[in-house]
Amino acid sequence: MATAHVTIKPRNRVLAWIEERLPILSFTASHTSEYYAPKNFNVMYYFGSLALLVLVNQIITGIFLTMNYKPDAALAFASVEYIMRDVEWGWLIRYMHSTGASLFFVVVYLHMFRGLMYGSYKKPRELVWLLGMFIFLVLMAEAFMGYVLPWGNMSFWGAKVIISLFGAVPVVGDTLVQWIMGDYNPADATLNRFFALHVIALPLVLLLLVVLHLAALHEVGSNNPDGVEIKEKKGPSGRPLDGIPFHPYYTVKDLFGVGMFLLIAAFIIFFEPTVGGWFLEHDNFIPANNLVTPTHIKPVWYFTPFYAILRVIPSKLGGVIAMFSAIVLLFLVPWLDRGKVKSVRYRGRGYKLALAVFALVFVLLGAIGAGKTAEWIPELFGPAADVTLIENAFGRTLTVLYFGFFIFLWAYTYFGLEKTKPVPERVTTHD
Ligand code: HEM
Repeated sequence: MATAHVTIKPRNRVLAWIEERLPILSFTASHTSEYYAPKNFNVMYYFGSLALLVLVNQIITGIFLTMNYKPDAALAFASVEYIMRDVEWGWLIRYMHSTGASLFFVVVYLHMFRGLMYGSYKKPRELVWLLGMFIFLVLMAEAFMGYVLPWGNMSFWGAKVIISLFGAVPVVGDTLVQWIMGDYNPADATLNRFFALHVIALPLVLLLLVVLHLAALHEVGSNNPDGVEIKEKKGPSGRPLDGIPFHPYYTVKDLFGVGMFLLIAAFIIFFEPTVGGWFLEHDNFIPANNLVTPTHIKPVWYFTPFYAILRVIPSKLGGVIAMFSAIVLLFLVPWLDRGKVKSVRYRGRGYKLALAVFALVFVLLGAIGAGKTAEWIPELFGPAADVTLIENAFGRTLTVLYFGFFIFLWAYTYFGLEKTKPVPERVTTHD
């Protein structure tokens, strides 16, 4: 439910003096012990708090990395090696930061998927979703620029490929590319500006957006796996019958999620920090070299679904437009989906199927973008198989399916084709 504004009057005179001038305790209580959240949250509701945890981890480890990193094209790579070998606990700080980056996307993708499952983007939470999408955009920019900083060979070539995409813009393209790079190739100027954006500008924007995201959520209240608006059924006390105070109930539940998450994160950090090249690519352990192109230039896994869409479309401009449209469409979901029922539990079969296909398509596009299908095709079709032909056909089919999800979602709900189940009056729990 929307945040109840309570007034706390502390007995301690110093606290009371502060509280009268700056009601910090009242504010905290309004957003924790007096914030009523639906009592039926399931495992999919862990990822918001986990995203917050990773954000804090990135900021803290980032500050310590900055103390020893050198944003200079001649020194950057060596400074990262210095952090790994000579700085006390430097290896841990770096692996916490690099693993955190990948886990950030794992968590955020699951968080977004939860939104699609339970219709959390629908009225009255459209703005929560929109702010989330802006967070996603900034997060992608933040991750891309961070990846360039170690100045490894993939940093260099990744930066070159991605910045060159702006060259597809008609008329001003080439000028735009040089303006972004500050040179004719990624160079010292590029590294310096990316450093400034990565360590200060984008984190500030990110923090602001996260505060707005949560403020917007607390204004309207959380959705839940049944998609029932709990504030519509209130008890005599004026509190939602299906709500429980966020603190202590969900602070404790979220702590359990944090424990599980930390176990997984620690396992990766201590035993397999590169995750076989998925979290930290092998080519990035080689210093940047503008004369040696890596055999396969590809971004880190979390960008690969979008990168695949870019690659399978033959024209450069067409690819760039398709890639950006793939993200823009996600912004529009609240308006494309006209269905009244929120949760997938009570939605029509068509929606269930479409969502499952969409998730699978996203993962498979990711595999193409990561160059995995190029490895699988000769195994499946024999060594004589035309890898490019098959990969393009497969990738284009998946791209059509990706965009098809949004068209289907609109048509299915606009023309009233969806047969929904009755939504219960109250939330359902399994206790
Ligand atoms: C730094 C990244 C993010 C952080 C720290 C964050 C944080 C949170 C938190 C703490 C919640 C409440 C707990 C929960 O419902 O899980 C939440 C809810 C929500 N977030 Fe995010 N979020 C982030 C990114 C996103 C993105 C990328 C989207 C989607 C575009 C998004 C969409 C939503 C929605 C729709 C809700 C309401 C869910 C509901 O009530 O069912 N968030 N977020």
